[in-house]
Amino acid sequence: MKRRKLWYQTAVFYELYVRAFKDSDGDGHGDLKGVIERMDYLADLGVDCIWLLPTYPSPLVDDGYDIADYYGVHADYGSLEDFKALIEAAHARGLRVVTDLVMNHTSDQHPWFQASRRGEAPYTDYYVWSDTDDKYADARIIFLDTESSNWTWDEERGQYFWHRFYSQQPDLNFDNPAVQEELFDIARFWMDLGLDGFRADAVPYLIEREGTNCENLPETHDYLKRFRAMMDEEYPDAILLCEANQWPEDVRPYFGGDADDPTVPGDEFHMGFHFPVMPRLYMALKRGNRTPVVDIMKRTPEIPANTQWCTFLRNHDELTLEMVTEEERQWMWKQYAPDPRMRLNLGIRRRLAPLVDNSRHKIELLNSLLFTLPGSPIIYYGDEIGMGDNIQLHDRNGVRTPMQWDNGRNAGFSTAAITYTPAIDDPIYGYQRVNVADQLANPTSLLYRMHKLIAIYKEQPALALGDLNFLDHPDRALLAFERTYNKETILCLHNLSQRGVKLRAPTSWDLLADVTWHEGLMTIPPFGYRWLKIEFGRQRLL
Ligand code: GLC
Repeated sequence: MKRRKLWYQTAVFYELYVRAFKDSDGDGHGDLKGVIERMDYLADLGVDCIWLLPTYPSPLVDDGYDIADYYGVHADYGSLEDFKALIEAAHARGLRVVTDLVMNHTSDQHPWFQASRRGEAPYTDYYVWSDTDDKYADARIIFLDTESSNWTWDEERGQYFWHRFYSQQPDLNFDNPAVQEELFDIARFWMDLGLDGFRADAVPYLIEREGTNCENLPETHDYLKRFRAMMDEEYPDAILLCEANQWPEDVRPYFGGDADDPTVPGDEFHMGFHFPVMPRLYMALKRGNRTPVVDIMKRTPEIPANTQWCTFLRNHDELTLEMVTEEERQWMWKQYAPDPRMRLNLGIRRRLAPLVDNSRHKIELLNSLLFTLPGSPIIYYGDEIGMGDNIQLHDRNGVRTPMQWDNGRNAGFSTAAITYTPAIDDPIYGYQRVNVADQLANPTSLLYRMHKLIAIYKEQPALALGDLNFLDHPDRALLAFERTYNKETILCLHNLSQRGVKLRAPTSWDLLADVTWHEGLMTIPPFGYRWLKIEFGRQRLL
């Protein structure tokens, strides 16, 4: 199918945690000015769009996803002026900026909730209150390790309130038109600062209905479509990225349009995370078998021509295993989280490099899949240099440690005596060994490899927009597929095993090695990968 090229369909995203990135004033916390100081680093890396994790005032029970004021910036991070300056600094370098918009819930410290629990108009019905705690019993609990119910008793109001995440994060009542309008106004406020869009957090849960699991309800989609219509009308270049940790067929409606006809433009989200493919990349790698990846991609419906998936290897949360079977989850835990401290809720709180035992080949192989399978790739800060994690830290903090800039004090992140959390300082992943400065001085570093993958990805629209066609090969360790766009075909070959895989390759140009291959036998080394541009219409032999 021919697609029109829209910026977000070919963009590389960089997920950035402001607290961890760069501390400009020596108080031990990263801040917006620090991000501005390091903007050239991001521009040089070649990414197109920065996704900032929440920077709103917050008691930080859920690290900023518990918002106490939608119209401000947390004092640790700076001011609204700084936020604006960050956007300008990004735009000056051709980068775009999106940030989280947490729609589903606020902090219990938010003045709306404080007024609501006192029963004060007009906030009385801003949240979901009930005299009993047995409504919506079919809704699952998401933060399984900490919460035993989606209802919490509020002494002051004398009622229970509904929350899908921490009990300090009461859910807003989206059946209330005033709440719906508030979110429109909040979006307008941030867009007027020059932002390029939002990563809309936890959207499946906006509306509750008895007898359902309270996820993906038609009423929720109705509201989100109206939200999109407002954005299209007032900010036509902005994007909305949907966080719905769901199966592909359940994410499909979030793109809008017509489920049976992908030529009908999407009218809900421009982009949606593809959650289920992520654990299957790790699964396929560990098993040396392509099947999990092929199966989930075959199960992925077509999306409207004006939309795009977002894919990732890791993010600021645990590596979620919600979208696998119970048996697969147990297997993944056994393989990738042998120490119980590595587990959290239904996932694994580890970073990319430690997950693959710091194997450079495996880190690259997974990144190659990230860049060649459909979807705009998102790089999680620090993974481009192979940072490690600290599983001793609370909740998901172990994957949110300071960015490792150099081998100096606090990894070059901060001049403070004490930082918000210590930089990784272990014998393998410590900042003395893993840091940006060293990798910039070494042309064979992972960081430079990432530069190269990004550069080629951006030169080859087929990798972003091409149709996907899996190729057969008797050895299941070979994950081979073509991406074809505008009479250009790129053959992507991945060896998921620790032995060489032989195949017959067509005459082609190797985009990564800059060499021509002549038709014949090719061996892909253990955990190796190739991006081969083949002449259009040529037979690809395998
Ligand atoms: C999303 C965020 C996560 C947060 C949750 C509740 O899943 O990625 O970090 O805890 O929403 O807001």
